[in-house]
Amino acid sequence: MKLIIINGPNLNLLGKREPSIYGSQNFEDYFIQLQEKFKGVSLSYYQSNIEGEIIDKLHEVGFSYDGVILNAAAYTHTSVGIGDAVKAIETPVVEVHISNIHTRENFRHQSFISSNAEGVLFGFGLKGYDLAIQSFL
Ligand code: DQA
Repeated sequence: MKLIIINGPNLNLLGKREPSIYGSQNFEDYFIQLQEKFKGVSLSYYQSNIEGEIIDKLHEVGFSYDGVILNAAAYTHTSVGIGDAVKAIETPVVEVHISNIHTRENFRHQSFISSNAEGVLFGFGLKGYDLAIQSFL
């Protein structure tokens, strides 16, 4: 089972960024925990602050991997391009958000990804990534 977590803009700052919303753990440490927990899964991680790089990564993995776990962060609410890439690839995509985007500002209620995602998880903190992995097993 080959899965990849793709994180979008500003998620490289997890642990430092608005900890009351996103928690105080950085993603690199959490990713090590995930790898230890899901030893039978070939799990990789990619983060970019650049929209086109996220699209390129979706194209790269989207015809060979078993699953993509995508937190496109702010691009979720703005990027037709990432939404189209999710639609274009064959690999199923689970959309994850750390926070509950529906209890936040109105502009966060819209997602260009959800309509083409296999499933959506939001509001569970970092645990959402764990639940997304489980959804593929
Ligand atoms: C986020 C929610 C987005 O609205 C925000 O822009 C993010 C993170 C989340 O994981 O809760 O950067 O995707």
